[in-house]
Amino acid sequence: MATFISSPATDRILAGLRAGSFRNIVVLTGAGISTASGIPDFRSPGGLYATLQADSLTASPQEKQYLKKDPTGVVDIRIFAQNQFPYLEVRRPFILGTADQKWKYTLAHAFIGLLHDKKLLRRHYDQNIDGLSHQVDVEPSKIINVHGSLQHVYCEACKAPYPLAEFREAVRTKIKNIYGEASEFANAPAESEHIKCLQCSRPAVKPATVLFGRSLPDAFHEGVEKDFNTQENIDLLIVAGTSLKVHPSAGLVDMLPASVPRLVINLEPVGEDLVIDYSPDNARDGFLKGYCDESVLKLLEALGWKDELAAKYAAGMCDKSRATLLGDK
Ligand code: OAD
Repeated sequence: MATFISSPATDRILAGLRAGSFRNIVVLTGAGISTASGIPDFRSPGGLYATLQADSLTASPQEKQYLKKDPTGVVDIRIFAQNQFPYLEVRRPFILGTADQKWKYTLAHAFIGLLHDKKLLRRHYDQNIDGLSHQVDVEPSKIINVHGSLQHVYCEACKAPYPLAEFREAVRTKIKNIYGEASEFANAPAESEHIKCLQCSRPAVKPATVLFGRSLPDAFHEGVEKDFNTQENIDLLIVAGTSLKVHPSAGLVDMLPASVPRLVINLEPVGEDLVIDYSPDNARDGFLKGYCDESVLKLLEALGWKDELAAKYAAGMCDKSRATLLGDK
């Protein structure tokens, strides 16, 4: 399904990668780079927002009404501050699945690992909280977890930390399963019970991920300062698997001089409001339309990098990505 569109911009980017002229590449990613591993994205038809069952949540009629109208409310401080349950109930299988290392990295993550191995990666700005970008061999300082991490837990009210293992156990035993018997994490209480802060006792404990209405981690702003506001220029921006609907991360695509090429790898065009140009004759913005893994495979083949990536990363990647890479679909 990947369409390798030859355009002046895509050809220029490929030629630059082949010649080794891009040595300061920034990659901005979103949920679409992880869907091959089995984690749904947010805004696609089968994504978290479209499939949200507000009536199954422990919430007031007003909260349910709000979430039916705007499912992004489930990751918004305005709902969480008054009721911890919608977030924790929706996120229960994700929190427990991550703890059990249920999901493995994709071909797209491995490609970023390869860029790092080749010393071409300036920074990976990852909007995902699934931790898969840390499963490939990229120095932690090169990865900015734009929307925080599931590896730390704290009280959203007083910021006191909460022990990770205890939090996972509390989610398992105190938060009900809204995903039916089919969920592998179905063994859950019939009703949800609060998980309270060990310091202030408020029911505001959650993973250290960014809710709408909250600021991004300092690491994001520090990274932007280092990467986008210096003389040592970024020479290529790769944008993969993100709808570019959420700021400030989406705004990164608009922070570079017009001379810096951008390569979008996505199912559909995104960021047209951010002036990404999809006209076939534009010289700046390349577009690989289709599944990330398939586009990455075509890139690897065009660059002659496939065997190198396979030797290091095929064994550990998710089954679907490995099948794409090795051609045994
Ligand atoms: P979205 O769900 O908004 O966008 C995912 C994009 O990836 C869409 O354009 C999909 O078409 C595309 N896509 C999905 N699967 C793909 C695949 N296999 N190959 C190529 N493209 C694919 O997810 P994000 O952009 O990551 O924030 O969302 C940004 C933020 O909005 C998230 O971090 C989250 C969400 O609300 C918070 O929770 C604060």
